[in-house]
Amino acid sequence: MRILGIETSCDETGCGIVDETGAILAHTVASQVDVHAVYGGVVPEIAARAHLTALSPLISQALREAGLGLGDIDAIAYTRGPGLIGALLVGATFARAMARSVGIPSYGLHHLEGHLGAAYLADPTLKPPFVILVASGGHTEMLLALPGFQYRMLGRTRDDAAGEAFDKSGKLLGLGYPAGPILARAGAHGDRRAYALPRALLDRPDSFEFSFSGLKTAVARLVASLDEEAKVAKQADLCASIEEAIVDVLVRRAVQAVQAHGVEQLAVVGGVAANQRLRQRLAEAGVREGFRAVFPKPSLCGDNGVMMAAIAARRANEGLWPQDQTVRATMPWDGLVAG
Ligand code: KG4
Ligand code: ZN
Repeated sequence: MRILGIETSCDETGCGIVDETGAILAHTVASQVDVHAVYGGVVPEIAARAHLTALSPLISQALREAGLGLGDIDAIAYTRGPGLIGALLVGATFARAMARSVGIPSYGLHHLEGHLGAAYLADPTLKPPFVILVASGGHTEMLLALPGFQYRMLGRTRDDAAGEAFDKSGKLLGLGYPAGPILARAGAHGDRRAYALPRALLDRPDSFEFSFSGLKTAVARLVASLDEEAKVAKQADLCASIEEAIVDVLVRRAVQAVQAHGVEQLAVVGGVAANQRLRQRLAEAGVREGFRAVFPKPSLCGDNGVMMAAIAARRANEGLWPQDQTVRATMPWDGLVAG
């Protein structure tokens, strides 16, 4: 069984082909980062048009990479939400039309469950129940994965997402876009304790909520208090301190969640899962606290089509598909259970 995955929820057009064993047969991405960098953020209409232009050649490229024809594909999985509605509609319409033209099924899946698909590829022994920490540009959430593709929401951010905290702080420091990975690189050799920055809500150990807007305000104040010379001289320390403030919160909340639910595995997914400091701190915490942190390969942490194909392959093995196939800008996880 070979599944073609299509991802168009934001500013990366991604295609991937995965088989039932989880082997990656193709991985192609067309990034629009340069297009949006001019505006300092994603412009939804431009994103939708760029997906439309990119999709067809990208799928051909993926098929060539896999040495397959469209007739060798058994199903197409696409992101049906959450994301930019125009961008999502382009991917969904393309996927459905292509599937219908060759008489195969198409499945619309949740973008964040797709990110989890990349963790399953990294470690096929990942088995519910386990805790999921999602840290991306648009979402920061903690969930409990249960058997049968069911998920229980443990907590989410009240305001900014972790990736957004990286991006907005980096923007205040005049770094490029998206600032997360640039800030991480700039702080690699800085002093992580040079500046005291807030770690919100950690005084509430019974809650799995996050808040990053206070950090953004603190960084804005700090940057305003420095002259241009100091900003340059202290850039590494500033970046290291900001990164540590974000990573600290994610690590401490994740450890709390793992302990509260007595699980032995933690899947860390979303663009911020590429962060080296987060990977290192959670691996260390795992050794200390008796759990294993599973991260997707760095190349599969950002948005991509492989992850959508991967979660679809996983669902196909159990024959479990979400009922709702509507494209939505905001939507809960498929299989979200109360409690
Ligand atoms: O999951 P993703 O690719 O897109 C969304 O669905 O949001 O996540 C993108 C986010 C951006 O905020 C980006 O700055 C952040 O992930 N990011 C990082 C790193 N690489 C990407 N943040 C910190 N360190 C990194 N190495
Ligand atoms: Zn994403």
